[in-house]
Amino acid sequence: MGWYKSLVLPIVRWIDAETAHGLAIWALKNNLVPRADDATDATPSLECEVFGRKFANPVGLAAGFDKNGEVPNAALSHGFGFVEIGSVTPLPQPGNPKPRLFRLYSDRAVINRMGFNNDGAEVVAARLRKRARRGILGANLGKNKYSEDAADDYVKGVEALGPYADYLVVNVSSPNTPGLRALQGRAPLEKLLKAVLKARDSFAKGVPVLLKVAPDLTDEDKSDIAAVVLKVKVDGMIVSNTTIDRPVGLNSYDQDEKGGLSGPPLMEPSTKVLADFYRLTEGKVPLVGVGGIASGKDAYEKILSGASLVQLYSSLVYHGLELVTEIKEDLERRLRKDGFANVADAVGAAFPEISGKNIPVDEARAAKDAVEAKKD
Ligand SMILES: Cc1cc2nc3c(=O)[nH]c(=O)nc-3n(C[C@H](O)[C@H](O)[C@H](O)COP(=O)(O)O)c2cc1C
Repeated sequence: MGWYKSLVLPIVRWIDAETAHGLAIWALKNNLVPRADDATDATPSLECEVFGRKFANPVGLAAGFDKNGEVPNAALSHGFGFVEIGSVTPLPQPGNPKPRLFRLYSDRAVINRMGFNNDGAEVVAARLRKRARRGILGANLGKNKYSEDAADDYVKGVEALGPYADYLVVNVSSPNTPGLRALQGRAPLEKLLKAVLKARDSFAKGVPVLLKVAPDLTDEDKSDIAAVVLKVKVDGMIVSNTTIDRPVGLNSYDQDEKGGLSGPPLMEPSTKVLADFYRLTEGKVPLVGVGGIASGKDAYEKILSGASLVQLYSSLVYHGLELVTEIKEDLERRLRKDGFANVADAVGAAFPEISGKNIPVDEARAAKDAVEAKKD
């Protein structure tokens, strides 16, 4: 057992979740989190190029951990291939009343209803301006709670943060901002994305724009979103945000708290939605798979199901940053075992009819069967 699980977690579990998160940011800022010796070692089989950016490895830190861009370089130094800051809104806002973050210990999961608490685009941009640029940094954009013109908020985000980001994310999928997820509807989404892409071409030329979606979508929603993504030429998608669903089998005291659920109970549903988008976009749009990753096996399953990159957040609460190195090592072993020279070769291998990667590996077949079984 690593130092986090044996020393830190037993103490942290008695501290309220948001205070513990604040301590983690503080410890990273002050370089107090021990690093695995081989955290940033180069692994050629994990290096990849996605939406025109070069990644040292495909394992990223998901949005919500470093909402204010305080510790991107510290997080990268623990071995992530990329770090996504935010969500950032144009104006600073306090978010929802506390408590708003809950650990579901028995399920190794998290529920949050933070509500986009953040320092605002101007302050975050000033922080990023001072940062030594390294690795890949994504800036995830949101809208202010009381803003009436959503498109204008995202455009302001592009203008403020675009110049400092390696990619931008239009987040229309957090469940804790009233009306936000309605922006995933066909007409509002097309209008919003066209405005964002136009702003990108003015203020952040060449910076890829990704769309982050919810896992709680009907088949019609998914077809509409895929059609819009292909039509307006978004550079990629992130699948998925937290779920408002409560899968059967949850077994924790706080499971009925309002908000978005993340961690292992989200693995299966979010991977199914990922595979749906891989099929609907015919493998033409790079996908980032996120939701419930707690092991190299989980990361591999997302990749076989169509993810070019993966991200995680909730499992870090239970496993610490050591998990990043464990996942990369396991991923590398699995690729080698299945005969893939590079991670890019495994992307979408569960769907050879789309990916053209007709390598009949057992894991690929199992992932496809799992997805098919869910559909029945
Ligand atoms: C406390 C918390 C805050 C989050 N805040 C954001 C956010 O501001 N923007 C966003 O796009 N996603 C946010 N997320 C969602 C994560 O980026 C990710 O999509 C989700 O948690 C699923 O991944 P996981 O199961 O590995 O945690 C947040 C998640 C958590 C747990």
